[in-house]
Amino acid sequence: MVDWSKASSSGRGGRDPQLVVFSAVRAVDPVVELDDTVDIVVEDGRITRVGPGAATAEMKSSERAVVIEGGGRWALPAFVDIHVHFREPGHEYKEDIKSGLDAAAAGGFAHVCCMPNTKPVNDRRSITEAMVARAREVGGPALHPIGAITRGLKGQELTEMADLKEAGAVGVSDDGRCVTDSAIMRSALEYAKTFDLPVIQHAEDHALTAGSHMHEGAVSTRLGLRGWPRVAEDIIVARDILLAEAVGARYHVAHISTEGAVRLVREAKQRGLKVTAEVTPHHLLLTDEAVAQGHNGLGYDTFCKVNPPLREQRDIDACVAGLADGTIDAIATDHAPHSSLEKECEFQAASPGLIGLELVVPTLLQLVRDGKLSLGRFVAALTSAPSGVVGIEAPTLRVGAKADIVLVDPERTHTVEGAQLRSKCHNSPFVGQTFTGSVELTTLRGQPVYVREGAFS
Ligand code: DOR
Ligand code: ZN
Repeated sequence: MVDWSKASSSGRGGRDPQLVVFSAVRAVDPVVELDDTVDIVVEDGRITRVGPGAATAEMKSSERAVVIEGGGRWALPAFVDIHVHFREPGHEYKEDIKSGLDAAAAGGFAHVCCMPNTKPVNDRRSITEAMVARAREVGGPALHPIGAITRGLKGQELTEMADLKEAGAVGVSDDGRCVTDSAIMRSALEYAKTFDLPVIQHAEDHALTAGSHMHEGAVSTRLGLRGWPRVAEDIIVARDILLAEAVGARYHVAHISTEGAVRLVREAKQRGLKVTAEVTPHHLLLTDEAVAQGHNGLGYDTFCKVNPPLREQRDIDACVAGLADGTIDAIATDHAPHSSLEKECEFQAASPGLIGLELVVPTLLQLVRDGKLSLGRFVAALTSAPSGVVGIEAPTLRVGAKADIVLVDPERTHTVEGAQLRSKCHNSPFVGQTFTGSVELTTLRGQPVYVREGAFS
């Protein structure tokens, strides 16, 4: 048993500082070129020692120490998700800031960036401030709002980005909608550049996707559903790269999903442009066949309805290769909770999106086991790389850093149960499936914000 009550001694008021020892754990942090079995010593919320045998016998036997035996588990810097949808304000029945942050902690995250398609839209200072204030009140992982590019996500009038930034926004996006007007997009890139904010594009040419519900291909034809062609994403990414080059601005592709878009980002990077991209777990793992087969054996699976849609194997292969070689910088979940009201209906009427915060480790470790993604890239894509995109300090296992640490059991096989998820919604085709690998513990400044039930008993 691990007695976490000892960890809550904060060192204030003359009490002993807390001491947490991760003993003989495999620690991985590519930023400091670390992949070794070490002890990690945490004192008063900060990492004070890292190395083989770094924890002295005296530390481990100290009454005030919380000692966690590695036992084959991994210690990683806690994760950063630059693309989540918490539904507060407006649709708290799907998710609110508290349940969203709880889900983030359970997934191993220390930081999340919230998209602005709330109700009202986060297109002004007062809403950004309210989100930040509510998150501080709740505690746990840090919430960084992403402000809208245009008022009301309408694609017409730019927001006051200086205000948004001052209030705490770390980027701008009209996610859910694409900024399709080239003149507006050019102005957005120019304006955001002034404030050093990345412009995060939901790349979808709406003229090419009107009325569509899934990827355009053989499966959509078979199912009789109108399709969303790859080129609708590629055309926007190509145009935006040209605009970003002309302006000299930072440009980020949200939830990249096509072979063509990956190629365009690779070429842009080769040309030295400030272009970055993220990919979701579902676009790395599922094809459009999942819509037809259904997670429950029934077709037209609304849990597999997502925007951009699940594509084909060649797109998955391109996304996995792009993530492995660094073309795609980050893994982001696009955690998009929807209740049964929006999902238990006919496919055409269902809202797009699926939850992801609590499922990253279980679902994606298979790519590492299969040798398609190195563990170092997996960790970088969840820590330093996304932090770089939005300009926040990345969690790291360096001595002196805040002890934002996630402990992973790579061998634990378990079935994802909806009832065990902290998110208010369970809309994921991965619920009910069995995976190997789980988050056992998340600490923020050395304090546990998530402990898997039974992890230490
Ligand atoms: O599937 C999606 N769901 N894609 C988006 O771009 C928006 C998101 C949502 O807000 O539900
Ligand atoms: Zn999104």
